[in-house]
Formats: sequence, structure tokens, C-alpha cells
Amino acid sequence: MQQIREAADYIKLHTQLTPETGIILGTGLGGLVASLKIETEIPYDDIPHFPVSTVDSHHGRLLLGTLQGKKVAVMQGRFHYYEGYSMRQVTFPVRVMKLLGIKQLFVSNAAGGLNTTFNIADLMVINDHINLQPANPLTGTNYNELGPRFPDMSQPYNSKLLAKAKQIAEQMNYPIHQGVYAAVPGPNLETPAEYKYLRIIGADAVGMSTVPEVIVARHMDIPCFAVSVITDLCFPGAIEEVKIDKILAAAAKAEPFLTELILNMLL
Ligand code: HPA
Repeated sequence: MQQIREAADYIKLHTQLTPETGIILGTGLGGLVASLKIETEIPYDDIPHFPVSTVDSHHGRLLLGTLQGKKVAVMQGRFHYYEGYSMRQVTFPVRVMKLLGIKQLFVSNAAGGLNTTFNIADLMVINDHINLQPANPLTGTNYNELGPRFPDMSQPYNSKLLAKAKQIAEQMNYPIHQGVYAAVPGPNLETPAEYKYLRIIGADAVGMSTVPEVIVARHMDIPCFAVSVITDLCFPGAIEEVKIDKILAAAAKAEPFLTELILNMLL
């Protein structure tokens, strides 16, 4: 708790801006930043107790500014469990953003498509999730000042934000689905049998992030909105060897539409 406060105090000392929306950008999905009127930029390395991003395709910095005139804190680069961070480290920035004042959290990620109606570079708004990661960020001492010991998960993704996304999706000429995201630990991708299992248990997409951040945000009663970019297809007949450059290419194709969706969600 002390570390969360120190990190938030450091950021507050370096910016005038009080963000209302926190945004976490996933792999290859940094393009939203071009629309951002940046007021303050802080490298993660400078923020006390912040973990440091290790993935090449991520820039590690916190941006404070305005998008569509709305005050936002944007995490350019996130922390993954597979990088070796503890779940508390992975979710530390979400708790810091809460202390900065955020009232909602938007998250994006790259994910494999399990639903056979999906195509590469489609978007999927996450309407529920299945947590298959082996650790939970809320294990251990509960910070009662942040939230309850046994937080409710009946509405992991905010129904008003989901309804708004549906309306926006209808106006956009782009495939935007809604579905269930399964979070796995990674870093390896799944075997064909694992993809089949994930489909059977009801997942539409699979990835290695997002769920820890959403759990911690819901613990603090922050409404959440999350979108997956479908970067590869994971059902029989479509499964191919997954290459990181193909994932990044699919992310790049979908990215302008993800940006359009998020910008409209802020209006
Ligand atoms: N599995 C897990 N994570 C992923 C995938 C996948 O197929 N694609 C992008 N992230």
C-alpha cells in the first residue's frame, strides 16, 4: 500500500492532470497514442516501485493527457505474468491509476480466436472472462482500503460500456464481436488439444493478459471495458504455426479500428 501511494505521489508531483479513464494498450496496439494530446510523459523506470517492461514490442511509459477532450492515463506497455513478474507487480499500475483518480479502465490485447466465426484482425469486445492463470493478484493480505476480501465478479465488464460498444460497432464498418476471453499463463501458445479444451469450456478468444488487471480493477469497483484483437485463428482447419511477426501484422491491421472504437467509447 505504501509503495502504491509513493508511486501515485510521484506521478501527481509531475503532472497537473487528474485522469478519469485509465487505458492499458496491448501488444502492437499503441496507435491510440497518436490521437493523444500528451501533457506528461513518464518512463516506467522513473516511477518508484513500478516494474520495468521487458518485451521489445512494448514501450514502457505512462502518458497523461487528453483524448477526445477526456482526461486519460495511458499505459504504453504492460506487464505480463510470463515475463516473470508476480501478479501483484503485473497489476501494480492499475492500483496506482486508481489513486490517481481513474473512474473506468479500458484494456486492449492481442488474442487467439477460438470462435469459428472469427477472422484474423477482427475485434472482440470482451463480455466475460475465464481465468486460467495459476496465480491471482488478490492472494494474500487484502488491502481493505482498496476493496473487499471477496470481491464480486458478477459484472466483470461493465454492462453500460458493453451496450455502448455494441451501438458504436453497429455504426462502424468493421467486424466487432463480443465474447469470452480465456487468460492463460503463456509464454508458449496452446496445443491443438488445449485450443479445443478452451472452446469446449466456452471461450471465444485466448490470451496471456488483461484478466489480472480487470480483477484488481473490479476489486476497487472500477468499471472495465476490454477489447481483443484477433491475431491468429485457433480452430481445426485454421491452426497454423504462430509467428510473432504475423501477430504484430494482424494487430497493425486492426489497430486503426480499435483506436476508432476506443475514441468513440470516450465520447
Ligand atoms: N494464444 C494465446 N495468446 C495469444 C494468442 C494465442 O493463440 N494469440 C495472441 N495471443
